[in-house]
Amino acid sequence: MRMPHYGDLQNQIYGAGLSGVVPTIPVDFATLEARACAALPPGTLSYVQGGCGDEHTQRRNAAAFSDWGMVPRMMVDCRQRDLSIELFGMKLPTPIFMAPIGVTGMCTQDQHGDLAAARASAVTGVPLCASTLSNDPLEDVYSACGDTPAFFQLYTPKDKALAESLVGRAEAAGYKAIVVTLDTWVTGWRPRDLNTANFPQLRGHVLTNYFVDPVFRKMLAKPPSEDLAAAIGTWGATFGKVLTWDDMAWLKSITKLPIVLKGICHGDDARRAVDHGADAIYCSNHGGRQANGGIAAIDMLPDVVASAGDVPVLFDSGIRSGTDVVKALAIGARAVGIGRPYSYGLALGGAEGAAHVLRCILAEADLLMAVNGYPSVAAVRAAGAVRQR
Ligand code: FNR
Repeated sequence: MRMPHYGDLQNQIYGAGLSGVVPTIPVDFATLEARACAALPPGTLSYVQGGCGDEHTQRRNAAAFSDWGMVPRMMVDCRQRDLSIELFGMKLPTPIFMAPIGVTGMCTQDQHGDLAAARASAVTGVPLCASTLSNDPLEDVYSACGDTPAFFQLYTPKDKALAESLVGRAEAAGYKAIVVTLDTWVTGWRPRDLNTANFPQLRGHVLTNYFVDPVFRKMLAKPPSEDLAAAIGTWGATFGKVLTWDDMAWLKSITKLPIVLKGICHGDDARRAVDHGADAIYCSNHGGRQANGGIAAIDMLPDVVASAGDVPVLFDSGIRSGTDVVKALAIGARAVGIGRPYSYGLALGGAEGAAHVLRCILAEADLLMAVNGYPSVAAVRAAGAVRQR
């Protein structure tokens, strides 16, 4: 019997078209983004769409995928495709995950976008990497993920007891890995947000994980409901710990979960991460939101993969399509993070909108693999990608 494939989505779309029904949410990124621009409130849009400096790096992140190509192979039976991967001892049905996005909560009109993203994860089987910055507590977000495993992204507070509390809560909730973001102890220079003097956290948004935390609440004279300004001030004062390699032993000691280091872009840093016991390396330049360094993340992936040895490498920054996913896998990523595209899906259609975006990305990846003669992710990796420029 024929297995269903992600690419079958195109048959459903064409089939519905015979009854005059076209997709309510676009299937490509450019049209999706244009529609989301009209749907999101200006402050949220500028925070999601904007980046650091003149946004050169974030444009390069996406554009650089055109510099990479893949060679088709013929006479391969690709009627059955397997997009599954192994990660942290789990078999996952797809090679993609939702990258942590700290204003996910604000991307839906009910302000519960974190729960909507979790529901999209539950229905697609695409894991959510839940951000520390959320409108709903990490425990509720985990529950909404259903049977799909989830990861928790940690912004490490300066207060170690608070960091340990957040990690302990994530482990108790059932998250399967702790993703420690390394590049955001201070916020990068973001002209779009600066020109409108808009930083959502300072208005009390997406701080729920702190406000419900027992350790954080002990740091306050009054609960956030009685003195929001003081709670926000306390958050601002403890938000970003400067991490160095010396902190790895502490991070490893506070959880049994795998530790993933997010923001590694240099081969030497990848080697040090492995030497210090990182369970996975996450190559990312934060979508060009933190440093406007100029090199696309995908162009830094080969060195990171070469240095990581057997340690899995996760990747994000600039993924806009299924084709981009397959190229990142070919270059050596174990799993590929979808960022802004799912935020736009949430903005246009809540959980179903985000699920639609993920399904379209998977469909395109699956069909590329079908046409190019790659029946599995291992075959994609073996085929590799060629740099054309
Ligand atoms: C992010 N990113 C991010 N990363 C992280 O570790 N924790 C976070 O809370 C956030 N928050 C966040 C908010 C917004 C609005 C964006 C767009 C991104 C970075 C994110 O995980 C990922 O690295 C980028 O989104 C990848 O870039 P693209 O593909 O979205 O351009």
